[in-house]
Amino acid sequence: MDKKTSGVSEPFMGNTAPKNFTKNPIKGTRFTIAVSSAKGGVGKSTFAMNFALALKSIGLKVGILDADIYGPSLPKMMSIKHKPESKDGKGLVPIEKYGIQCMSIGFLVDEETPMIWRGPMVTSAIKTFTEKVLWNNLDFIVVDMPPGTGDAQLTFAQQIKVDGVIIISTPQEIALLDVKRGIKMFDKLKVPILGLVDNMSFFQSDDGKNYSIFGEGGVEKVAKEYKKEFLGKIPINIDLRVTSDEGKPLVEKDPNHEISKIIIEITKKIEKLFLKK
Ligand SMILES: Nc1ncnc2c1ncn2[C@@H]1O[C@H](COP(=O)(O)OP(=O)(O)O)[C@@H](O)[C@H]1O
Ligand SMILES: [Mg+2]
Repeated sequence: MDKKTSGVSEPFMGNTAPKNFTKNPIKGTRFTIAVSSAKGGVGKSTFAMNFALALKSIGLKVGILDADIYGPSLPKMMSIKHKPESKDGKGLVPIEKYGIQCMSIGFLVDEETPMIWRGPMVTSAIKTFTEKVLWNNLDFIVVDMPPGTGDAQLTFAQQIKVDGVIIISTPQEIALLDVKRGIKMFDKLKVPILGLVDNMSFFQSDDGKNYSIFGEGGVEKVAKEYKKEFLGKIPINIDLRVTSDEGKPLVEKDPNHEISKIIIEITKKIEKLFLKK
């Protein structure tokens, strides 16, 4: 009999064994919460900005890190047009807007310049933003993640202490597939999933009728299936879109708006997980 065995050699096995990563907290911050979805255009940035402002509205010190290197939204959504300063040539000072400390790759490049970067450069940009930004005494830093399950997600999951992730999705089938992939990725990387948000859940017309444009109940179903918390539904609302485009998110502009109230409710659920009173 042939004694040849298949498989990989011992030294090679050693190289492929899972690595132990040291996860460092972002300096100057207590808790890091990532807002993620495996799909683009489902409302991550809109939610992240409003969530950060909702945390601020309940008296917390908050920062937002826009980690969407290829498609930064923060400069437009928070209406920031100037560049951050570096006082000692080492650390970047975050830009304060509406009482929130902000940082985005979009501050450093022209609005219409495409970021044509390979993975290692994305990783290094994220490391700069988490290690070289002078975040000042924050209770929470909200990280607006890029879509997908790529380099940025891996860098955060393996090298940074992320205290929890909120997954956001629209309820349509094609988005839900990505949600499942996202859940599995964070579970695998041992990043706690705080819960799922159903965005663009329905549209309510002037006569009060609800239209489930992207389908109904999909995100809640996935949450149940994967035993994750379901945090709430945010309907399609024109004011939410307009205020983002204007650069003053709805929770800041009109905290009593029905949509602001929904986001503040979700925010309180999250806050309770971290700061017990
Ligand atoms: N609930 C909502 N109602 C209306 N418009 C929304 C809602 N959520 C997001 N949008 C809009 O949808 C677009 C995509 O949202 P965005 O937050 O940029 O998504 P992502 O960050 O996931 O790519 C934006 O124009 C935003 O204003
Ligand atoms: Mg975005």
